[in-house]
Amino acid sequence: MIAAQPYAGRERAGALLEVRNLCKSFRVGSETFTRAALVKAVDDVTFRIEPGSTMGLVGESGSGKSTVARMITRLIRPDSGEILIDGQDIVTGGAAGKRFARLVQIVFQDPTSSLNPRWKVGDLIGEGVLVHRLCPRSEIRNRVVALAGRCGLDVDSLDRFPHEFSGGQRQRIAIARALAVEPSVLVLDEPVSALDVSVQAQILVLLQELQAAFGLTYLLIAHDLAVVERFCSHVAVMRLGRIVEAGLPRDIHENPKDPYTRSLVEAHPVPDPHRRKAMTA
Ligand SMILES: Nc1ncnc2c1ncn2[C@@H]1O[C@H](COP(=O)(O)OP(=O)(O)OP(=O)(O)O)[C@@H](O)[C@H]1O
Ligand SMILES: [Mg+2]
Repeated sequence: MIAAQPYAGRERAGALLEVRNLCKSFRVGSETFTRAALVKAVDDVTFRIEPGSTMGLVGESGSGKSTVARMITRLIRPDSGEILIDGQDIVTGGAAGKRFARLVQIVFQDPTSSLNPRWKVGDLIGEGVLVHRLCPRSEIRNRVVALAGRCGLDVDSLDRFPHEFSGGQRQRIAIARALAVEPSVLVLDEPVSALDVSVQAQILVLLQELQAAFGLTYLLIAHDLAVVERFCSHVAVMRLGRIVEAGLPRDIHENPKDPYTRSLVEAHPVPDPHRRKAMTA
């Protein structure tokens, strides 16, 4: 029997994530052979996500979405700006900031690159529990079994290697690994873009169930406006490092202002029963 609650019986609420005036530039081009240029990947980005809700972040390729995600999860350091989890700055907040940083975890588009192929699935899921000493060693296996079950993986999976699984199952492993350290915020960087449509739906349903169960706060990066409309309470659109449009998914769909948002809406028309009725009347 697999326990329904992976967090050792503790219920947690999602955290408030606030990003203020975030900036990040990259130097591109070799100093020796060509003139180096500075690319403003993220240029003064500000937003907040209420605890337990989901904000969608969309935008054309290269607009800076993943750079925002990598800064929020401390994989890269911002040039300037603040990243606050429940009011605590996780970049400049010293030891307390580091503790809060654990509360934010990321799931990437391609789980293969984030899962060490030489590690068994059980060890991959349990690594963070061990590193952060979230429970006694003797209890780690039980926690991993419970969490894997919650993510739709059976106990036998834990002694196998990531390459033995399908893309969808690997994404379940990546989600379980992210959840193992008891985050309050999950950054989902195109988590279903590489999967078959039928599998995409299963993973999205799983993410919705996990959010409802643990009150998680999500930042969902996506290209698919239909996914964003179904999943998100708010959406922000990025272009050239800046947020150019933000609001309720429905408002953005009905009245897109940015050219990229308009092209997204045109690429993914969502059936409108009222309009269809008017046309057939
Ligand atoms: N490590 C890096 N070094 C140099 N430039 C980078 C680096 N990381 C990102 N960039 C540049 O920053 C800009 C934003 O990239 P980013 O990956 O954040 O975009 P994205 O919106 O996630 O795109 P996609 O939808 O294709 O994933 C791009 O111009 C990219 O080339
Ligand atoms: Mg990206």
